[in-house]
Amino acid sequence: MDAYSQLTAEGFLLSRHGSGTRVATVDAASAPEHDLREAPGQFDVDFAPGSPDLSSFPRHLWLRALRQGLAEIESHAFGYVAPQGLQTTRAAVADYLRRTRGVLAEPQHIVLCSGATQAIALLASVLADQTLAMEDPGFWLHRMVLRHNGIDPVPVPIDDDGLDVAALSDSDATAVLSTPAHQSPTGVVLSPARRTALMQWARADHLVIEDDYDAEYRYDRAPVGALQGIAPDRVVYVGSTSKTLAPGLRIGWMVLPAQLVGPVTWSKGLADTGSSVMDQIAFAKLLTTGGYDRHLRQMRRRYLARRNALLRALARYLPEATVLGAAAGVHLTVRFPDGCPVADLVRRAAEMRVRVEPLAPCYADEAAALPGLMLGYANLSESQFVGGVRVLARVMR
Ligand SMILES: Cc1ncc(COP(=O)(O)O)c(C=O)c1O
Repeated sequence: MDAYSQLTAEGFLLSRHGSGTRVATVDAASAPEHDLREAPGQFDVDFAPGSPDLSSFPRHLWLRALRQGLAEIESHAFGYVAPQGLQTTRAAVADYLRRTRGVLAEPQHIVLCSGATQAIALLASVLADQTLAMEDPGFWLHRMVLRHNGIDPVPVPIDDDGLDVAALSDSDATAVLSTPAHQSPTGVVLSPARRTALMQWARADHLVIEDDYDAEYRYDRAPVGALQGIAPDRVVYVGSTSKTLAPGLRIGWMVLPAQLVGPVTWSKGLADTGSSVMDQIAFAKLLTTGGYDRHLRQMRRRYLARRNALLRALARYLPEATVLGAAAGVHLTVRFPDGCPVADLVRRAAEMRVRVEPLAPCYADEAAALPGLMLGYANLSESQFVGGVRVLARVMR
């Protein structure tokens, strides 16, 4: 009886007194046009870039942080809170960014959001009257997010020193989306001369959106500070926990010049009225108790060992590949000799249950792409990626 009443209430059954119960005709929900990310489990080795070690998510630390935070927080936090984010969380993020990245962060200039992806979407909505440029190659998803928000970014080339600031100055762009600490996808670090040039460009009434997506992991060289610390009134700093804890958390932040705080907060409010308070509470506690720093220290060591093992495997089995951008982050880039049929390589590797991501989708014009791949190594064991590299080598031959 319960089941019948429930199905009738939901409209799946039609029940008329005296004439029995019939199955209703309902329209099937339409399937999405295409998935942005492939389902896990299809591959034995998945070199998807951008994932931290998901099995190392600090479950116990997170639970403890949530329990402690919940015990302390006042009940009004569970209501419709300010879309900007909880004051305690913004203060903890500000302190962390000041300490580790040299960001000049005040809690009142921070807006919490659902990862860097939402940050880009919110910024696109408030910067609609600007001409926005983006690195080329650059993260394909961010280009799609901008286009989805009505902005077709001006492509600015990348070379061995990072973003070509002269080309940016020659364009009519008034704002640029950039990844100075570890360029996505090439891994190049913006050179000191280019940093200075980019800040000069910014000071001429322009805006830099600094996506600091991989900055926590540096292996062979001194960390470069965030650009935001040099010109906080001309730089929007964007960060997230996607590489440090898990992409599934969807926790991110922006540190904004004062004049953008109001419009971006408004946009965040209209998007979703604010990010999950539970996650903000736990994350703030994780930061203030030092658990986040400890977790990062541990992961840094683990990723360094994995990166070194991947470099050894590449040198041994795939010597024709030139490795780029291995000094930081959770992925590296390999470049093959010109003319290498990368699309075939990707397809043949997938047939052998190894997933690799080509560089091509990161280019505004895919035909101009360098022949290469991005290889994420943080979420794979050493034996997995040695096996994966051997498959790539076999396909290459
Ligand atoms: C260039 C770049 N920025 C930012 C991110 C993080 O995005 P989010 O915080 O939305 O998960 C990624 C993740 O792959 C990325 O590649």
